[in-house]
Amino acid sequence: MAAFDPAVNRHWLLDARPKGGNFAEVLSLREEKAPEPGPGEYRVRTIYLSLDPTNAVWMQYDSYLPAVPLGTTMRGLVLGVVDISNHDRIKVGDIVMGMGRWADYVITNGESMGKVPNIPGLPLLAYLGPLGMTGATAYFGLLDIGKPKEGETVVVSAAAGAVGSLVGQIARLKGCRAVGIAGSEEKCNWLTGELGFDAAVNYKAQGWRKQLRAAVPQGVDIYFENVGGEITETVLELLNIKGRIPFCGAISQYNATEPQPGPRNLSILVSRRARMEGFLVLDYTPRMAEMYAEMGPWVADGRIKWKVDLDQGLENTLTSFGKLFSGGNTGKLAVQVSAEP
Ligand SMILES: NC(=O)c1ccc[n+]([C@@H]2O[C@H](COP(=O)([O-])OP(=O)(O)OC[C@H]3O[C@@H](n4cnc5c(N)ncnc54)[C@H](OP(=O)(O)O)[C@@H]3O)[C@@H](O)[C@H]2O)c1
Repeated sequence: MAAFDPAVNRHWLLDARPKGGNFAEVLSLREEKAPEPGPGEYRVRTIYLSLDPTNAVWMQYDSYLPAVPLGTTMRGLVLGVVDISNHDRIKVGDIVMGMGRWADYVITNGESMGKVPNIPGLPLLAYLGPLGMTGATAYFGLLDIGKPKEGETVVVSAAAGAVGSLVGQIARLKGCRAVGIAGSEEKCNWLTGELGFDAAVNYKAQGWRKQLRAAVPQGVDIYFENVGGEITETVLELLNIKGRIPFCGAISQYNATEPQPGPRNLSILVSRRARMEGFLVLDYTPRMAEMYAEMGPWVADGRIKWKVDLDQGLENTLTSFGKLFSGGNTGKLAVQVSAEP
C-alpha cells in the first residue's frame, strides 16, 4: 500500500473479532477517496496515531465504550491538523486531539475532539505523552486514587511504558520512593539511570521476587496496577496496612482467550485493610486543566522526562501495535501518519 497521499484516505477496517492477539488476521488496510466534511463538521489530517493497550479491548467486546462494530474503521486516539473546516469555532490549521480512527483522515463535528492547549516551547508529541491522556492517567490515577504521602513507597508495573514511566516520576516529585517493574534490564536501567526511579526490577529475570522485596524495605504503600496476573499476586504480598491500589489496567489479560482468574491472594486486602479502586481517565476530562497546571511546568523544565516510541507510516500500524504486548515499546507508543505542519 502506498504512503500518505492527500487525495486518499487509507483506513484500517475491523473485519472480525481478534482471538489471542491475531490482529493481522482481523484488520485490513483499505483505501477510499479522502472524505469531505458536512455542515458544522471539520476534517482532521492525522499526524500522530496513539496506540494503546485498550485498543485490543475495543476490538473484542463492549467495555466502557462499545466494541468497534465489525466492518467499520478501527477507533483510536488521534492528534492532527484541521485541513478543511465548516465549523464555527475551529479553523484550518488548528491542532486538535481526541477520539478518531486508524485512518489518514477523521471527519468530526468536534464532540470527541478538541484543540490542544498551547504551552510555549513544547513539541506536539508532548500532548500524546505526558500532557495528553497518558499523562492524565498517570497523574489522576496516582494522585486522586493512590493519594500518595511523602515518604511512602510506590510500586508501578509496566513501568517503562507510557503511563508507568510517568507514574514513578510523579511519585518522586511528591516525595515518595518509586520502584518500577519492567520486562528487561535495558528498561530498568532507563528507569533508574534517566528517569530517577529509586529502583527497578526486571520481572523476566531469575529471582525478581526477591529483588522486589529488597527494593521495598518499608513495604508497599501504593501499587499502581497496569498488568495483572502473577505480578499483582507478588506485589500484594508486600502491601502495607492501609495500602492503596489504583487499578489502571491489566494488559497481561487483554488477549487471553479464556477469562482469567483473579489474584489468588486477594484476601490480603482484608488483613492489610487495603483498597483497590479502578478508574478511567475519560472521567477526568473535565479536570484536565489541573493536570496541565501541575504537569505543564514539570514537563517544560525537564523535571518530568518522557519518550515517544514513534514508528512511521499508517501502513505499519499493526507491527507497531504488537509491541505493546511483546514489550517492544519504551515510553508512549505512536505512529506518525503524516508530517507536522
Ligand atoms: N484506566 C485508564 O483510563 C487507562 C488509560 C491508559 C492506559 N491504561 C492501562 O495502563 C496500562 C499501561 O498502558 P500504556 O498505554 O502505558 O502501555 P505501555 O505500558 O506503554 O505498553 C505496554 C507494556 O506492558 C508490558 N506488558 C505487556 N504484556 C505484559 C504482560 N503479559 N505482563 C507484564 N507486562 C506486560 C510491556 O512492557 P514490559 O517490557 O515491561 O513487559 C509493554 O511494553 C495498560 O493496562 C492500559 O490498559 C488505563
